[in-house]
Amino acid sequence: MPGSSEFQLRNGGPDVYEACLVTAQMGPSAQELVAAAKIDLDERVLDVGCGTGVVARTAAANVRNAAQVTGVDVNAPMLIAAADFAERSGIGGIAWVECDAANMPFEDQSFDVVLCQQGLQFMPDQNGALREMARVLKPNGRLALSVWKERSPLGAALAKVFDRRFGEDTTASWQTMYSLGDREELRSLVLAAGFRDVHITFDYKFARHSDPIAFVTGAVAGSPLASALAEMPEEESSMLYTEIVKELADYHDDGGLAAPAPCHTLTATL
Ligand SMILES: C[S@@+](CC[C@H](N)C(=O)[O-])C[C@H]1O[C@@H](n2cnc3c(N)ncnc32)[C@H](O)[C@@H]1O
Repeated sequence: MPGSSEFQLRNGGPDVYEACLVTAQMGPSAQELVAAAKIDLDERVLDVGCGTGVVARTAAANVRNAAQVTGVDVNAPMLIAAADFAERSGIGGIAWVECDAANMPFEDQSFDVVLCQQGLQFMPDQNGALREMARVLKPNGRLALSVWKERSPLGAALAKVFDRRFGEDTTASWQTMYSLGDREELRSLVLAAGFRDVHITFDYKFARHSDPIAFVTGAVAGSPLASALAEMPEEESSMLYTEIVKELADYHDDGGLAAPAPCHTLTATL
């Protein structure tokens, strides 16, 4: 597999990711990211670290023809799932390309807009990835990306319950998710790649789900602890899910779970 990544899901991961996290959280936040990029109908759009493709699918609804959109990811199973989910959503024509973001097989100045939702923090070569995004953008092209600002209540609940059950530091590596939370560090990285007009906004992306236990079960099934939990007697894993939901008691409304995740969204121009 070309390139490398610190965010790789196990077998079945893409389905779980799509059914649970995309529906509850990444789908709505993709709408916001695409809106921030102000895409015109005739523009060409690249979704970097596309995962199961929610941002690319959302962008495709904002251009004349889905063939104007390309999604890239280093994880081949994610791309297979992305193609499948796009087809099932009736969106044909998006190009799905397996590559490392730091080495993309596109000509200079191929795209008008580059999008990257919650991907940059997992890329081992962030400078290289941003330089590639700049290289493939046309002059005055736009970048819109998002990264988590810090650990969310959901992340804290998972860490508390799993570290208690599996040992201290079991979830320490999950900190990568929040590793680009510093606004000035993020700004410097993007400026160093040649972008200008860098603007960062802070808000909360909510994970909303009518059935908190189902959401937590899905979120965990898409995590690196999936196999450890799958091997547990069901009674024991159910108890863990119940404990996690209890930790999230403050994050419910009449619709069920409403768990906020602090997020930075950055827009910039080349
Ligand atoms: C948290 S997921 C986000 C997926 C998608 N953007 C979304 O909003 O649902 C991060 C994605 O970045 C991809 N990724 C990580 N490192 C990468 C790299 N070096 N090049 C390309 N993709 C990478 C992972 O494979 C994964 O699909």
